[in-house]
Amino acid sequence: MPDTHTRFGSSSGQPATRRDGLAKVTGAATFAADNRPEGMLHAVYVPAAIARGRVAHLDVERARAHPGVVRVMTPADHPALAGDPDDKPTRFSFRIEVLQDDTVRYAGQPIALVLAETIEAATEGARLLSPRYEAEAPRTGLDDNAPFDVEEPGFGAPGETVHGDPEAGHAAAIHAVEVTYETPPQYHNAMETHAVVAEWDGDRLTLDTPSQALAMSCAAYAHLFGIPAENVVLRSPYLGGGFGSKAIPSGPMVLAILAAQEAGRPVKLMLTRRQMFGPVGHRGATRQTLRLGCDADGRLTVIDHETLAATSSFEMFLESASNASQGLYAAGALRSAHQGVRLDVGTPGPMRAPGEASGSAALECAMDELAHAAGIDPLDFRLRNYAETEPGTGRPYSSKALRDCYDRGAEAFGWSGRPMAPATMRDPDGTRIGWGMGTAFFPSPMFAAEARATLRADGSAMVETAGADMGQGAWTALAQIAADGLGLPLDRVEFRSGVSTLPDGGVAGGSGHTATAGGALHAAGGDAIRRLGELAAEQPDSPLFGAGNAGFEAREGRVHVAGDAGRGDAFADILARAGMSELVGSGRASRPDADTRDYAMNSHGAVFAEVAVDPDLCQIRVRRLVGAFAAGRIINPRLAESQLMGGMIWGLSFALHEEARHDPRTGRIVNSDLAEYRVPVNADVQGLQVLTVHEDDTHVNALGIKGVGEIGITGSVGAIANAVWHATGRRVRRFPIRIEDLLAPA
Ligand code: MOS
Repeated sequence: MPDTHTRFGSSSGQPATRRDGLAKVTGAATFAADNRPEGMLHAVYVPAAIARGRVAHLDVERARAHPGVVRVMTPADHPALAGDPDDKPTRFSFRIEVLQDDTVRYAGQPIALVLAETIEAATEGARLLSPRYEAEAPRTGLDDNAPFDVEEPGFGAPGETVHGDPEAGHAAAIHAVEVTYETPPQYHNAMETHAVVAEWDGDRLTLDTPSQALAMSCAAYAHLFGIPAENVVLRSPYLGGGFGSKAIPSGPMVLAILAAQEAGRPVKLMLTRRQMFGPVGHRGATRQTLRLGCDADGRLTVIDHETLAATSSFEMFLESASNASQGLYAAGALRSAHQGVRLDVGTPGPMRAPGEASGSAALECAMDELAHAAGIDPLDFRLRNYAETEPGTGRPYSSKALRDCYDRGAEAFGWSGRPMAPATMRDPDGTRIGWGMGTAFFPSPMFAAEARATLRADGSAMVETAGADMGQGAWTALAQIAADGLGLPLDRVEFRSGVSTLPDGGVAGGSGHTATAGGALHAAGGDAIRRLGELAAEQPDSPLFGAGNAGFEAREGRVHVAGDAGRGDAFADILARAGMSELVGSGRASRPDADTRDYAMNSHGAVFAEVAVDPDLCQIRVRRLVGAFAAGRIINPRLAESQLMGGMIWGLSFALHEEARHDPRTGRIVNSDLAEYRVPVNADVQGLQVLTVHEDDTHVNALGIKGVGEIGITGSVGAIANAVWHATGRRVRRFPIRIEDLLAPA
C-alpha cells in the first residue's frame, strides 16, 4: 500500500539538470550497439521486398561462399524456438516472425539472416541472397480489405462503449456535423534504431538491447527460449528514444538471439533506418467518422465516434481512436466504436499517445466544426460542455484543473482577440493568419514497480530500480523522488537503473513511469528510514533511544522523531554504532483497485495555435503554439516542460508532416528514411510556449504524479488543423495537411 502521507523534501520541484547529460554529450553513455563482446558475429537480415506472397528462391550457396560469412539462416533451416512464437507470454506481446515459414506478410519482414565476421561481409552476404518472390496483390490501404467487428479486443483495442441514448441525442440536436477524418500510418523513428547484442552462456542469456520494459521483456525472451526468466540479464541503461516501439520484443531481436544460440557465439544486430519501417511497430492508419450534435445553447447532445483502424494480417492491435471521446466532454450521450481491417503491413503497436493522438486529432477538429456550425467561439463551446464529473460514468475526477488550463492558455495566447469568421486575418504582406485551439487529454495510468534503497556508512545512499530512461529524464526525476524519500540532498543519492537484475521498475510507457517507479523508490526510502530509526531506538547512546513507537522522518541525512525535528540522529552515526556498513530498505508501488474504480484519472490541457499560410504557395507555418497543462505534481519543471514541448512537436508533426506511404504495387513503404518520412526540423518549430498548472491530487497515487509524456500531442494536432481552417476557410480532413490540399480547388 502506498504511503498516503507522502512527504516531499527539497529535491522534488527543482529544475535539476539531467544526470545523464554529461555522459551523453561526451559519448561516455553506452547504447546497446556500442557493446562488442569477444568473438562477436554481425547479423544482417534480408527484409522482404514485397508485402504479400512467398519467397520462391534465395541464393544461399552464393551467400555462404562469400568470405567472412559464417552462417545463413532461412526458413528452410527451420530455426526453432523452444517456445511457441504465436504465444502471448506477457500481456504486451505480439506474434513475431522468426523465419517459421516462407510466407511474406508485410514488406520489411525478415526473410533470411546472415552471420559474418564483419558487418561488411554480413551485408554483402545478405545482398547475395537475391530473393525471388511469388507476389500477390498487397492490401495496404483501408479500403483494400473488408472491415471486421472488434469482438475479441487486443490490448488497446476496445470494441464499443455506449453511455446514454445516442439516437435520442442525434434526434435532439439543433446543430449537427457528420465528418470523416483520416490519419496515416506513422512510424516511431526513434533516433537509436533497434539493436541487440546477444550472448549465451549455456542456458544463460545476456542481452544489450534498448527496452522500455525490462522485466516484461525478460519474461518474453525466457518463454521464447525455454529458460527461466532469471537466466536472462537485460542491460538497457540508455535508449535513444522509444515512444512505445521498444516496449515489446520484436522478430528481428528474437532472430538475432536465436542466431547467437545456434552459432555458439555472441551476435550483434542493429537495424538500419529503412528496416525500422515494418517489424518494430507503428501507429496504424485510421478513418474516423464523428457525428456530433448540440442544442441551441451549444450543449452537446451526442458524441458518436466510429473508427476503422488497420492491423496486420496475423495480429491484433488497433489504434483505439474513438476512446478519445470518452471522459472529456459532458455530452448527453456518448458512443465510441471500433472496427478493424487486416492489411499486409507489420503489426501496429503503441506509439506515443496510442489511440488518443489520432482520436483527439479528429475529435478536436469535429468540435471546432460544430462550434462553427452553432456560431459559438471554440473555447466558449468547450466551456459550455465542461465535464465536472466523468461523462457517462459520473465518477469524480481525481483532480481536474482543465478550466485553469483554458484560462491561462487563452490569456497567454491572446485568444480573446480572435475573429469568429475564417479567412479574415492577414498580415500586411497578404499572409493568411489563423488561430485554432484544442483540448489535451490523456489518462494517468500506474503500473507496479519495486525498488531498493541502501543507506551507506558515509551517510550517502544508493537507490535502485530496473526502470528505463528513453530520454525523458528518468535518471534525474526518479533520483529526485528517491532523495526526498530518504531525506537526503540529491547529490548524496546515487541512482542505478537500466539492468534487469535490479528490482523491477515496471514499464516506461503510458506516461506512468515517474509515478510508478518513483512511487516504489519513495517507498523504499521510507522503509530504509523506518529501519534506521528502529535501529537507533535500540541504541542507548542515540538521542532516539526508546523512541521506537513514535514514527520517524528524515531530513538532511538525519532521522528524527515524527513531528520533532529537534530529536534526531545522523544516518552515519546510527550505522557506525551498529557496526553496519549499510542498511537496505525496499519498496513497491501500485495503484489500489478501489481508486481505479472510484475515480477518473487524467491529465488535461489546452493548446492554442497560430498558423501563417502563404497566400500563393499555401506553405503552412506554425508561428506560435501555446500549451497549458495540468498533470498533477511536477517533479522536475525543466524535464516536464521538455516532455510537453516534445509532445507538442509530435502534434505539429502529426498535423503537417508525418505519413508513411505505400507503393500500391509492391506494398513497400516508399519513404522509409528520414529524408522523405518528414518530421519537423528546428526551422519548423517556432514560438513554443509551455505552461503548467499545479494540481494536488491525493487519489492518483501517493506522489500525486499524473505523467507528462504523451498529453502534449493530444491537443496540438487539432489546434493546428483548426488554425489552418481559420486561416484559409479550407477544412482538410486528412492528415497530414499538405500544401496540395490547400491548392486544390475547393
Ligand atoms: Mo508509450 S506508446 O506508452 O511508450
